[in-house]
Amino acid sequence: MSLAPQPDATPDASKGAFTPRVFSGIQPSGGLTLGNYLGALKRFAAQQGQRETIYCLVDLHAITVWQEPEALIRQTREAAAGFIASGVDPDASVLFAQSQVPAHAELGWLLMCVARMGWMNRMTQFKDKAGKNAEAVSLGLYAYPALMAADILAYHATHVPVGEDQKQHVELTRDIAAKFNHDYGVDFFPMTEPVIEGPATRVMSLRDGTKKMSKSDPSDASRINLSDDADTIAQKIRKARTDAEPLPGSMEGLKDRPEAKNLVNIFAALTDETADAICARFEGQGFGAFKPALADAAVAVLGPITGRMNDLMRDPGELDRILRAGAERADAISAPIVEETRRIMGMIPKR
Ligand code: AMP
Ligand code: TRP
Repeated sequence: MSLAPQPDATPDASKGAFTPRVFSGIQPSGGLTLGNYLGALKRFAAQQGQRETIYCLVDLHAITVWQEPEALIRQTREAAAGFIASGVDPDASVLFAQSQVPAHAELGWLLMCVARMGWMNRMTQFKDKAGKNAEAVSLGLYAYPALMAADILAYHATHVPVGEDQKQHVELTRDIAAKFNHDYGVDFFPMTEPVIEGPATRVMSLRDGTKKMSKSDPSDASRINLSDDADTIAQKIRKARTDAEPLPGSMEGLKDRPEAKNLVNIFAALTDETADAICARFEGQGFGAFKPALADAAVAVLGPITGRMNDLMRDPGELDRILRAGAERADAISAPIVEETRRIMGMIPKR
């Protein structure tokens, strides 16, 4: 019999008895982009009310590469503002910063002892980020996916909405959970499902249709930031790389036109239409007609979000209070799950 308090999610993966619970995270390592909004934030807000939702600003992940302290704290508050402005309601969801809740680092270590070197070596995000410089990157960058598994499993999360680029990490989380359950002969951790859906699971750079739109791209023209004003958004879309062909009647015709395909997908995701419907509307027209319409759609959606974000940023004290309240709620869920993990592994109970 366990002396530890039992986690509220029933630890019985085999019977599918886990409370449906959504968890996701975004790194506060720069400003939020349109890719984050369409691929993540918008979908986070849509999950609210359907399931329990927990959203985290993963500052422990951000410091796997150098962050100026003043920039990190500002970006963490800005990301919190971005979540709220995008419709994540801090009462309906649990919203907090990862480093405020001890379960993440603690379970991260425990799971690093479950994960295998060979699994980590296959992670494409590590290979991309480390590049030729693998000897000089932080140990944290290498261990990053084990910390991500801890983020998810500390809440027994069953669903993780992410963009396409994070699929491999969620699959690794399942491998770690399965190995833990197997090695200790328990059904303690759930087999978490990645939720990757919609036309914007991979928003591409405005300068190169084969590269992901990213907050870390050195070219600001490659992305739309949630902090960009209407003129900047319109200008970036006007200058976005395209080709000289008119638009076809359906997505089928865009197979070998990555830049054009990207802009159509962005349009569809912004207006909640299908990409085929957008093609049909602009069939036979060139980008001279398409781009101003896309800019209008982008400004209509992002303008109010940027405005609300700026309002929220004027009161950092209030943002900190919101995050602290979220952290307390996150702690109440995750601390018992980590305590039970410790017990299963043979560690003296804390209480
Ligand atoms: P990151 O900014 O790398 O912390 O990513 C946070 C979330 O946004 C993850 O779910 C990513 O998959 C998603 N995301 C980031 N960039 C994009 C993009 N260009 N297209 C779609 N989703 C994205
Ligand atoms: N690795 C994710 C990214 O770069 C961020 C992240 C950290 C995350 N922990 C997570 C996403 C847990 C989903 C669930 O986008």
